[in-house]
Amino acid sequence: MLAVKQLNHSYGQSRALWDLDFSALEGTITCVMGRNGVGKTTLVKCILGLEPIDSGEITLGGEAIHHLNTENRVRRGIGYVPQGREIFSSLTVEENLAIALGARRDKLKTIPDRVYDLFPVLKEMGSRRGGDLSGGQQQQLAIGRALVSEPDLLILDEPNEGIQPNIVQQIGGVLLQLNKDENLTIILVEQKLTFARRLGQLFYLMDKGRCVAEGDMASLGDDLIKKFLAV
Ligand SMILES: Nc1ncnc2c1ncn2[C@@H]1O[C@H](COP(=O)(O)OP(=O)(O)OP(=O)(O)O)[C@@H](O)[C@H]1O
Ligand SMILES: [Mg+2]
Repeated sequence: MLAVKQLNHSYGQSRALWDLDFSALEGTITCVMGRNGVGKTTLVKCILGLEPIDSGEITLGGEAIHHLNTENRVRRGIGYVPQGREIFSSLTVEENLAIALGARRDKLKTIPDRVYDLFPVLKEMGSRRGGDLSGGQQQQLAIGRALVSEPDLLILDEPNEGIQPNIVQQIGGVLLQLNKDENLTIILVEQKLTFARRLGQLFYLMDKGRCVAEGDMASLGDDLIKKFLAV
């Protein structure tokens, strides 16, 4: 569904991604893994068009998207949950969700019930300001917001960072449900091994801006974990 070929990216003189080949197959959950600073977020931002690429190709459903701006990539069916959530703290929960309606392909003006079914807390807290929510609730809001446009591909960048275990569990359950029931393709940037193993069917392991291993999650062995993940 999504394919990245020979992707290169630099921040000024500093090279962040080196000839990356990456793909996410339709209906699968792929975990992008690796230690801090290896380029996971940069890869995701390049896919979304939030960082310009030096060279390479990005295709979605066989069509090149790397020349499109972020808004048009989202319209093509990519949902994005950024690292750090990026909730508008002075807007209400409902307003945060409504912002994403602009990216819907059918111009629907109301927030789909599905979002509230998955995260009932967003209905309960609809008129509260984003900034008043707990970290876990903000993360649920960030995921809900990404689902408002009913994406075919959902990309989440470390959604469990700094979140209490019961919400991590719940978010994991929702993602698995979306994948199973709606065949949603998911790219999950995740450093925590237990969560990656619970959700991921495939892994893509990075180090210093390069891919060092990829394959079925079951084949992610102790040697790779020790070398590229464990602290
Ligand atoms: N805006 C920026 N300007 C300059 N360098 C940057 C910028 N953003 C990231 N970098 C550098 O690029 C490299 C990759 O960073 P990136 O944020 O993609 O890593 P990451 O794998 O997502 O890390 P983390 O797990 O901590 O989120 C790092 O060396 C980082 O310092
Ligand atoms: Mg990151």
